[in-house]
Amino acid sequence: MSTVSASEVTIRQNKKEDITFLLQFVEEEGWDWSMYDHLSHTRLDPNYLLVAEDKSGEPVGFCAVTKSAPDTVYVSSFIVRKDLRRSGIGRALWKAMVQRAGNQNIALDAVKGMVDWYKKNGLQFQTFRTFYHIFTITDDMKKSYASNYETIALSEEMWPALLAYDQYVYPNFDRTAILRAWFSGEDVHVAVAMDAGKIVGYGSIHKKPNNEYGLRNVFGDNEDVIQALLHDMVSGLQKGAVVHFFLLDEKRLPTYIKHSVKYEEAPVRMYSKVRIETNTARMWIATAHLI
Ligand SMILES: CC(C)(COP(=O)(O)OP(=O)(O)OC[C@H]1O[C@@H](n2cnc3c(N)ncnc32)[C@H](O)[C@@H]1OP(=O)(O)O)[C@@H](O)C(=O)NCCC(=O)NCCS
Repeated sequence: MSTVSASEVTIRQNKKEDITFLLQFVEEEGWDWSMYDHLSHTRLDPNYLLVAEDKSGEPVGFCAVTKSAPDTVYVSSFIVRKDLRRSGIGRALWKAMVQRAGNQNIALDAVKGMVDWYKKNGLQFQTFRTFYHIFTITDDMKKSYASNYETIALSEEMWPALLAYDQYVYPNFDRTAILRAWFSGEDVHVAVAMDAGKIVGYGSIHKKPNNEYGLRNVFGDNEDVIQALLHDMVSGLQKGAVVHFFLLDEKRLPTYIKHSVKYEEAPVRMYSKVRIETNTARMWIATAHLI
């Protein structure tokens, strides 16, 4: 591996073959990010990914800047190859990202060590914080479960009601394009909880490599709804499968997944120009990657 300084890198749009490098960098970092995330970002914004390349054209760093709404970009996958950090490559990527973002509101989920740096660099508002957890599927979790709530798979005709529910959590922000992008494809299942014909919550789970899964948004009227959704999404997985999720810091762990292991990594949602309000009363699991 060569040594590279900021003056020797060029920032460019990503190419298809770059993604194997990003997947490798992210795996080394231990992030909950996989091909599903790349495909979802791409559906939302095909040009979402900036790459820092060395003189040979090899990627040495990334910064995703996904156009997620008419005036909002979501910044993620800000990462530089481990052995090349602290030599200015990240700063060069950040500069290119700021130029791309222009006047738009920037949203991101900051790892703990970076919060002050982001604040210094214009991300002046903070909203919720989540804690990273994982759990393993046990025999107990596969048993049937009596709930007051029926859960069904999301179908096309349910979209208007699902988006209306989403507005309880994001009262001033339309997530139609975001949810359409993330709830597409074969690797994702979206469960909707119903009570007397009315939506009372929803959640999504997607498949990652190596018998691992990720929960993204799991929202609901109360903890019983969350339990019903979790049971719907994970009870059919193989014993031993591993599930990743980010629990809102103000929520306790639902009993069904109480054996989850908590990591200290607690990303903080930050914004540059406008705080996007989130009604966390109905939010249990929320993640980086989705505004
Ligand atoms: C964050 C990261 C992309 C920065 O890239 P880099 O090439 O090391 O950064 P640079 O050398 O260009 O430094 C840019 C600035 O980031 C700061 N910085 C770099 N790494 C930092 C860290 N771990 N914690 C706090 N600040 C950091 C530098 O002090 C510098 O500040 P300045 O511009 O005020 O002088 C890189 O360290 C990385 O890949 N980290 C692991 C992944 C990660 O945590 N990403 C952020 C997720 S929110």
